[in-house]
Amino acid sequence: MKKLVFGVLVMLVSSVMAFAKPNIVILATGGTIAGEAKSDLATTGYKAGSVGIEVLINAVPELKNLANISGEQIANIDSSNMSDEVWLTLANRINELLDRGDVDGIVITHGTDTMEETAYFLNLVVSSAKPVVLTGAMRPATAMSADGPKNLYNAVALASDKNAKNKGVMVAINDKIYPAREVSKTHTLNVETFKAPNSGEMGYIIDGKVFFYNVSLKLNSKDSPFSVKGLKSLPKVDILYTYSQDGSKVAAEAFVKAGAKGLVVAGSGAGSIHQNQKEYLIELLKSKKVAVVKSSRVGAGLVPLSDEEIKQGFISANNLNPQKARVLLMLALTKTSDPKKIAEYFDKY
Ligand code: SIN
Repeated sequence: MKKLVFGVLVMLVSSVMAFAKPNIVILATGGTIAGEAKSDLATTGYKAGSVGIEVLINAVPELKNLANISGEQIANIDSSNMSDEVWLTLANRINELLDRGDVDGIVITHGTDTMEETAYFLNLVVSSAKPVVLTGAMRPATAMSADGPKNLYNAVALASDKNAKNKGVMVAINDKIYPAREVSKTHTLNVETFKAPNSGEMGYIIDGKVFFYNVSLKLNSKDSPFSVKGLKSLPKVDILYTYSQDGSKVAAEAFVKAGAKGLVVAGSGAGSIHQNQKEYLIELLKSKKVAVVKSSRVGAGLVPLSDEEIKQGFISANNLNPQKARVLLMLALTKTSDPKKIAEYFDKY
């Protein structure tokens, strides 16, 4: 009898503990964190997006101490092949899950190459105050000293933290927390690759404990006007790179011919564009068929516009790098093609 009572008590206590833990859903999209190499010394030449979500979860049994975990495979790709289709599926699934009372936060495993773009996209279209955290790895799952398991643990710790609400989409990687708008990959191979050049990191995760120091003042998630509900595709926006001896209109013309509704110029310095290329862009702006955003290939800092450029219809990317400016322009174009209204979005988001 005593044994039976004890057994019932143990069951009761463990179910109360399970209830007390947050419910975190891990959505897997591929990347090096799910990559397999032939040798444990190999950190290049492997196949990203090889192993499934269950393998990733089972590799970190400690996750169960942090949260009640469930996993879903959204895609299993190298993130350099990321597409609007996967973005739309991911965003809609996150919104669906976060609407539910029994989901407290989302972790997304993702390749590091384009993580900054997906993070910023989700930051603008996920309409919830609940935490959404992206993570990945620089070394494949099979590598000696793989960084994926710790990154996944930290991402779940962050998504489970009561202070992680209302902070927009975040990236948790290499023990640091970054805001989606600011984070950027800055090294091809090193594990210390992510930085937030304009703002610095938001905080740290040390031994599973979350420490916040900064928050982004730019609007995000539940304060964003953008929605992908019902969208089957996104407006086409391309990036024009500026370099010396540039100045042909070939690339810009080809993008527009292929259906681009917007162009982001990765200009030199504070966003300068080679004069020959700029003349073509001014002509293009007169047609009012294409929006043109000036960004910079430098990687940090504001891009100012002259009064004349504003009159011509150019839009400043503010301090967004070209790949992030592209994301915001795509979403802005789902709402308007008026350069003044688009410029307001670039100021706010
Ligand atoms: C990828 O982005 O899918 C490959 C590279 C990585 O995850 O580090």
